[in-house]
Amino acid sequence: TTDLRKLIGNPSEFFNKEIRLEGWIKTLRASKQFGFIEINDGTSFKNIQVVFEDGLDNFNELKKFKTGAAIEVEGILVETPDAKQDYEVKASLIGLIADCDSSYPLQKKRHTLEYMRTIAHLRPRANIYSAGFRIRSSAAFAVHKFFQEQGFIYVNTPIITSSDAEGAGEMFNVTTLNYEETLKTKGEDFSEDFFGRKTNLTVSGQLEAETFALAYKNVYTFGPTFRAENSNTSRHAAEFWMIEPEMAFTDINGNMDMAEAMIKYIIDYVLENNRDEIEFFNKFVDKGLIERLENVRNSDFERITYTEAVEKLIASGEKFDYKVEWGIDLQTEHERFLTESIYGKPVFVTDYPKEIKAFYMRHNDDNKTVAAMDLLAPGVGEIIGGSQREERHDVLMKKVEELGIAAEELWWYLELRKFGCAYHSGYGLGFERLIMYLTGIGNIRDVIPFPRTPNNAEF
Ligand code: 4AD
Ligand code: MG
Repeated sequence: TTDLRKLIGNPSEFFNKEIRLEGWIKTLRASKQFGFIEINDGTSFKNIQVVFEDGLDNFNELKKFKTGAAIEVEGILVETPDAKQDYEVKASLIGLIADCDSSYPLQKKRHTLEYMRTIAHLRPRANIYSAGFRIRSSAAFAVHKFFQEQGFIYVNTPIITSSDAEGAGEMFNVTTLNYEETLKTKGEDFSEDFFGRKTNLTVSGQLEAETFALAYKNVYTFGPTFRAENSNTSRHAAEFWMIEPEMAFTDINGNMDMAEAMIKYIIDYVLENNRDEIEFFNKFVDKGLIERLENVRNSDFERITYTEAVEKLIASGEKFDYKVEWGIDLQTEHERFLTESIYGKPVFVTDYPKEIKAFYMRHNDDNKTVAAMDLLAPGVGEIIGGSQREERHDVLMKKVEELGIAAEELWWYLELRKFGCAYHSGYGLGFERLIMYLTGIGNIRDVIPFPRTPNNAEF
C-alpha cells in the first residue's frame, strides 16, 4: 500500500503503474455508469480522486458507500492533463474496510468552529484542522531543529513543581489526596498534599532552565505549562505549550536576536514544508497570510522601549477602552494597535516598569524599569515574553524581600547567584499563539488538539 504523501510528493514515479491505497472517503458522487471518490489516507493534506466504472462487480454497492468509511482501492494512476486535477486513480477494485454510520457529522456541509469544538474527537479529520495540526507538528520540529543546529541542549523541566515562576499566583495545585476524603477531613484545603508538600503544575520551566543554562550555556525547554486563570479569551488556555530557551553570556539584545531568528526560521520551514496547508489558510482563513509571512521573514522586527510605546499610543489619538499612561500593563488592544496599525510588523517592546513584571527580571540603572522584552505580533498580540535575568545576588534578594516571596522555598534559585552566575537571558514563546500567527486561526481553542479552557475539559 502506498502512502498518499509519497504519491503526491512525486506522482510521475507512479504514472501508469498499478497502485494500492487505503483511506477514508471524503466525498463520493456517482451516476449510472461511473463515479468519483475523493479519498484521503491521512498522510497528506491533499486528497486524491478515484474514478470507478460500472465494470466493477460491486458497482451498485459502492455507489452507496458513505462519507467517512474506510476503503481499499487498487488501480492505475493515470495523468489527466485536461481535468481539474493532474492525475487520478482508475480503480480496478474498491472494497470496504470499515463502514461509517450515516449519523457522521462531517458531511459536505461546512460547520462553524464552535460546533467543531463539541466534536473534538472527529475534528482532526476536517480540512482546517488537518491543515492546522500538520503545521503544528512541523513547527514543533522546526523549533527543535533551530535550537539543535546551534548546539542548544534540550532540557525537560518538571511539570510538578513547588515554585511559582511568574509570581502571578495562577496555579493548579497538585494533590495525592482523595477528593472526597479530603473534603471530609480537612474542609477544602487541598493545598499541602504532594506527599506533605505544597506543589503545583508548572506555569513556566524558566527557573529550572536557568540552572541548566548556567551549566551548558545554551538550553531550551519545550513542554506543557499550566495557568489557572479563569479568563475566557481567544488567546488564553489553561494548558498550553511553551518553548523556553535560556542562554548564559547573553544580554537582552542577544535574547531578541535569538527570538527574531527563531521566528523567521520557523516561518521559513513551514512555508517550505507545508505549502499546501499554508495556501489553504491563505485562501479560506486569512487572505494576506502568505504575503505577511514572507514580509516578516524578509524584514527586521521593530525594537522600541515601553516608554516609546506608551508615547506612540498616546500620540496616536486612538480611543482605547483601557486608558494609556506610563505604568499600565499593555492590554491586547494596545499591543495590537502598536503592531498592526503603527508598525505593521512584529515589534519587540523592552524595558517595562519594574512593578508590572516578574521578580527575576534584571533591574535597569534608571531604577524604574527592568530588562524585559515582549514580542508583539500582528493579529495575535503578545507571542513571546522574556528578559535578561537578575544575576546580582544582593539586588535579587532585595527584590524578593520587597515582594514578600518566600526565600526559603527559592533557596536554590537564589544560591545560583553566588556560584559563577554569568549574565544570562531567556524567553518563552507561546506555541499556540505561534500557530495562530502561522495560520491566521483566530481562536486558541482551534490550534490545540484538546483545548483546556474553563468550558473545555470533556475530551
Ligand atoms: O509572558 P509569560 O508569562 O512568560 C513566562 O512564563 C516566562 N517565564 C518565559 C521565559 O522568560 N522563559 O509567558 C510566555 C508566553 C506569552 O508570551 C504567551 O505567548 C504564552 O507564553 N502564554 C500563553 N499562551 C496561551 N495561554 C495562556 N494562558 C498563556 N500565558 C502565556
Ligand atoms: Mg508575558
